[in-house]
Order: sequence, then structure tokens, then C-alpha cells
Amino acid sequence: MATSGLRRFLIPHALIEKNTFLLLVLTVIVVAIGGIVEIVPLFTIETTVEHVKGVRPYSPLELAGRNIYVREGCYVCHSQQIRTLKDEVERYGHYSLAAESMYDRPFQWGSKRIGPDLARVGGKYSNDWHYGHLKNPQALVPESLMPRYAFLADAPLNYDLIAEHMRTNRVLGVPYTDEQIANAKADLVAQASPQSEGLEAVQKRYPKAVAASGHGRVTELDALVAYLQVLGTMVDFADLGVEKLQQ
Ligand code: HEC
Repeated sequence: MATSGLRRFLIPHALIEKNTFLLLVLTVIVVAIGGIVEIVPLFTIETTVEHVKGVRPYSPLELAGRNIYVREGCYVCHSQQIRTLKDEVERYGHYSLAAESMYDRPFQWGSKRIGPDLARVGGKYSNDWHYGHLKNPQALVPESLMPRYAFLADAPLNYDLIAEHMRTNRVLGVPYTDEQIANAKADLVAQASPQSEGLEAVQKRYPKAVAASGHGRVTELDALVAYLQVLGTMVDFADLGVEKLQQ
């Protein structure tokens, strides 16, 4: 029984091996199935990525800071993706959830770690530490390989197009409201300085937004620090029933 079943299977196989055209057609069909399995889930991406409480779009200042991060190529040395491995979770905190980068266009997962992962660097250091470190990393970490970014402190942030940038993100699926877009510039300026009056309104629209330590004009460094300070802080893992591990 078993041998005849095997023979029945082998005979067409021999036929396929001898007929190039048939082999080609069947190969294309098999490859197409593989392709469909990979591509079809992307059409249902809204249901594929789970929503997690706390994840929100970036505030205008954070978004502008993120653009500086991308422009300066920080991803060349820093990943933003904590894997599920024990040593990573012990060092950096809870592993990254897909939802935590759902509003990242483009995402900054990175593939290289010349410096540490930054997915949960928010709140790890004070603003002052970040300003000092970005201006001159070696002043704080003598053996650091990180370049100096002091020029960002002297570069006024160009935020003329911030509302348009948010609108573009909305087209791509980031749920910015009309109110958030209408207040984009005011919110950006308000978050850039710790004593600003509008900060409460910003934090209402963007919970956990951290004020930068700017004074007067807004610099690229202010935006970058506001962005770094929100990384990994949006999701409250205790709320999800998970103990936040020591960083
Ligand atoms: C040439 C590689 C390199 C580049 C480019 C680089 N860094 Fe770093 N970074 C490092 C290294 C190495 C460290 C670890 C030593 C230190 O703290 O300075 C580090 C540390 C850091 C830390 C502290 C992380 C922690 O948990 O202690 C932050 C924040 C940071 N970098 C932000 C940035 C930002 C923002 C940029 C882009 C403007 C950037 N880095 C570009 C190499 C780099």
C-alpha cells in the first residue's frame, strides 16, 4: 500500500523534472503562494498591530526633534528596539512592543549598536544631562565614541512647516486631530521652555510630554532632547500588569 502510494507520487515528480516548462509554471505557483502569505497580512495592518494604552502621536516639538534625530543619522549607532532576550530586558527594560513604534514614519529600529539602545532612554537622565552629553559626550562619558553635536544648540529650529508635517503624517495614518494641527506651532514653542504658560495645554493634548530646557528661541537641541525624553515612556507597564524592570 505504502509503496504504491509513494510510486504514484514519484511518477508525476519525474515528469515535472523532465519538463522544464511544467517545472517553471509550478515553481511560479509555489513562489506566488509564498509571496501572498507575506503580503496579504499587510492589507490588514490595522488589525495586525495591537493598540496599547498610552501610545500617542508625537507632540510637534518631539516630532521636530525626531526629524533632527533622523537627519543626524543617530540610528547609525543607536537601535530603538529592545529584543525579548533576557540580557536586553535586564539592561534596557521591557522589550519593545510593535505599538510603541506604530506612529514612527519612518521607524528608527536601527540595526547597529555602537551606542546603547535608546528605545527607553526617556526619563533615564535629566534634561541637563542630555544637553551636556549631546554637546560634548566625552565630558560625561570619557571613553565615549559619540560625536559632539554642540552645533545643534546654536541652530534655531525651523518649524515653519510643522503643521504640514503633522498633516502628512495624518495621511499616513497617524491620528492627529484638527485641534492638534491648529495648535502645532503654539504647542511646539510652549514645550520648548520649562516656564511656559501653554505647557499644561500641551501635556493635555500629549500626555507625558516633557518640557525642554530652552530659553527664548527654540533650538534644534531643544527639540532633540524633548524627543529623547519621551522615548519608551508612553506605555505604563505596571498598568498592563507587568512589573517594569529595573533599567
Ligand atoms: C558614532 C556613533 C554614535 C553616533 C552617530 C551617535 N551616538 Fe549616541 N552614543 C554612542 C556611544 C558609543 C554611546 C555610549 C557612551 C556615551 O554615553 O556617550 C552613546 C550614548 C548615547 C546616549 C546615552 C544612552 C544611555 O542610555 O546611556 C544618548 C541619549 C545618545 N547617545 C543619543 C544620541 C543621539 C541623539 C545621536 C544623534 C544626534 C547620537 N547619539 C549619535 C555613539 C553614537
